[in-house]
Amino acid sequence: MTLPTQVTLVEVGPRDGLQNEATPLTVQDKVNFIRALADTGLSYIEAGSFVSPKWVPQMAGSGAVLGAIERREDVTDAALTPNLRGFEDAINARVDEVAVFAAATESFSQKNINCSISESLKRFEPLMAAAKKAKIPVRGYVSCVLGCPYEGAVAPEQVASVAKALYEMGCREVSLGDTIGTGTPTATRELIEAVAAHIPREHIAGHFHDTYGQALANIYASLLEGVSVFDSSVAGLGGCPYAKGASGNVATEDVLYMLQGLGIETGVDLEAIIQVGNRISQRLRRPNSSRVAQAWPTKGHQ
Ligand code: HMG
Ligand code: MG
Repeated sequence: MTLPTQVTLVEVGPRDGLQNEATPLTVQDKVNFIRALADTGLSYIEAGSFVSPKWVPQMAGSGAVLGAIERREDVTDAALTPNLRGFEDAINARVDEVAVFAAATESFSQKNINCSISESLKRFEPLMAAAKKAKIPVRGYVSCVLGCPYEGAVAPEQVASVAKALYEMGCREVSLGDTIGTGTPTATRELIEAVAAHIPREHIAGHFHDTYGQALANIYASLLEGVSVFDSSVAGLGGCPYAKGASGNVATEDVLYMLQGLGIETGVDLEAIIQVGNRISQRLRRPNSSRVAQAWPTKGHQ
């Protein structure tokens, strides 16, 4: 299969990244961060999460953040919503799009959202109905698609059945999350083949954590399978509070560098995103995990 000519990057740094960072940020810090990301040319930003603050305290100010960011026609500002309550809070904060999240394994579902997979799908039904009424598009996530911290290996068919359920209940796109980053390229291709038996490839996205250093290889494998939407996190921020040891999402800068090398358009400015990644890493007092950002100054680009 030929590679796509264009890819959409879904920037999840302000959500998947910051939800697992220890240094607290103010609402204004987050607003500045999100708008700086939009200025790099990113068109889709997951800006927050309307979950229980007892479960994920880092996302507590999401309503204030989304309420305060200046809206741009060319940027979708999205948020995670686990239930109807979260959806209503998100709507009040004027989100453009929401995302529901299910897991491929029962153990992860219990640890992450305190219910079984089928209960979670049931919980999404009133949310989907409310979203349809409000004309808010919904994205779906499936976690643990290439491995589970509690159950180990995960069968592609197991993922495909949850992805299919999300798509059939109205999710416009389903993002396949390698939450613990254990996936490798052949497993990734087999997974996409299994999911693509139920969902058109243009409605499948890849969400790769880089814990085992496999994320770029898995993105390349996904590109070969015709996937053209990838979630990434500037500076490789984050991890997952319910998947111990999971490192952040693949760094946006690294994905962008690879895509540029492949001649694939994204509309995002590499130099600008490197600067945003450096600034947020300094603010969080952590090293920038992007390999491209680390290499950039030594190449005389800065
Ligand atoms: P629960 O305890 O089963 O639900 O939590 P509950 O309905 O009994 O509510 C418990 C408390 O939460 C109550 O408050 C509710 O009011 C409150 P209390 O009476 O104890 O004071 N509550 C809420 N508060 C704010 N916003 C809400 C909300 N709903 C209930 N929407 C629940 C169920 C889903 C809420 C909880 O388990 C939760 O918030 N989980 C969050 C998990 C999470 O955010 N995980 C990280 C994101 S997923 C991820 O990172 C993976 C992904 O990146 C893909 C990948 O990498 O694979 C997407
Ligand atoms: Mg994630």
